[in-house]
This record gives sequence, C-alpha cells and structure tokens, in this order.
Amino acid sequence: PPFWAVIPAAGVGSRMRADRPKQYLSLAGKSILEHTLDCFLDHPRLKGVVVSLAADDPYWPELACARDPRIHRAPGGRERADSVFNALQTLGELGAEPTDWVLVHDAARPNLARSDLDNLLMTLAHDPVGGLLAVPARDTLKRADADGRVSQTVDRSVIWQAYTPQMFHLEPLRRALADAQDAGATITDESSAMEWAGLSPRLIEGRGDNLKVTRPEDLQWLAQRWAQR
Ligand code: C5P
Repeated sequence: PPFWAVIPAAGVGSRMRADRPKQYLSLAGKSILEHTLDCFLDHPRLKGVVVSLAADDPYWPELACARDPRIHRAPGGRERADSVFNALQTLGELGAEPTDWVLVHDAARPNLARSDLDNLLMTLAHDPVGGLLAVPARDTLKRADADGRVSQTVDRSVIWQAYTPQMFHLEPLRRALADAQDAGATITDESSAMEWAGLSPRLIEGRGDNLKVTRPEDLQWLAQRWAQR
C-alpha cells in the first residue's frame, strides 16, 4: 500500500559520547540519517517523509536531502513521542488522510533491509490495527532486584524486542499518542501508545541487523558491514 514515513530525529543520543547527535555521525561517507532516509526515498509507494528535528539543529541544513521536496520538517519535542506527534500533525497539514498508513522509523536505524520494509507493508496491508518489526529475544532474560541480583529468570519464548518501522493508520495513532500523553503514560514507541488504547499490534519478525545505533561499538559494526558491500 502507499505510505508516509515519519522519522523522529530530535534526540541527542548521549550514550554515544560523540560531539554531535548520533543521527549525524558519519557512516561510509554519509550521515546515519541520510542512510535511514534512503531506505524510504527509494520506495515506489512512498507518499512523503516528515522528519522531526530539534529547533536549533545546525546539522540538518548541511545535508543535500534537506532540499528534497518529498521531505518535510516538523518540530522535535521533549520526548520521542512528542516528536512523533508533531510529525503526525504536519502530515495532516500536508493533506494526509486519517486512514493513510504511517511508518515511524528511528533516525538511528540506517540498516533497514528492503525485504523487511516490504514484508511489513504486505503483511499489514489489510490489518485492522497495524504492527511493527520485532526480533524474538535470543538471550536468557533476568529480572533484577534493587541490589542488582537476579530475582527471576523470565520466559524468553514470549518476549520480543520492538524494532522499527512501526506501521499504523494516521488518525488512530495520533489519538492514541494524544490520549496516552494526557494520561501521563510512559510511551517509548508507537506500539505502546496503541496498546495503551487497548489494541494489540501485530509482531512481524525482522532482521537482527536493523539495529539502532546506541553505543560506539554499534557504529563500528555497521561501518564494517558497509565496507563489505
Ligand atoms: O534515544 P533513542 O535512541 O531511544 O531515540 C530513538 C529515536 O527517537 C531517535 O531517532 C531520536 O533522534 C528520536 N528522538 C526524538 N525526539 C526526542 C527523543 C528522541 O525525535 N525528544
């Protein structure tokens, strides 16, 4: 189906210990954010992209894609959910329909495979709720007590790691984010907002190498992968 992409890119990425937000770090001659945008701009069913950016972001105007007419800006917010909400408002102003599909994808996940993107779009095309790419937990999982000791081993067979893109219809997602925010709920991804609204998004198994650059070693790992392409 046709779809819009929303890229929240207003975070500071403090865990990277770098001189700039992680989406602007360089990977094989381009910024991470440009690689991330390329995953979507190459797609024939894309209607447009909204990127949420910090108000004083000095790096974005330097990128060649800042002048791409398919890419629109929205103001970043305090939390990731605020940045996504602002982007959804911008989509409305651009003429998006309430039932249009929106794919929200982290700026810091530059290694999204086309096969994963197409699988998400095809699997959810007629789904009433929507869903997300996710990866089954592979390590044994422990619950910690306050002293940093194991209190329990968690059944990993039912545990998944939530990745992005996360794909939902524009208006239900906008409403869910607004309602969750009003209630003061902790919302760390789009699925959690939909869950808060009482819905069950579908989990679609994706590739483990669609990782979110979080620590310095993640960038080194991706740079090695890119060098081998
Ligand atoms: O910090 P974390 O890796 O969880 O951020 C996930 C994504 O959300 C990143 O692409 C980051 O730029 C974005 N973000 C945002 N606005 C915030 C916080 C994070 O757009 N206030």
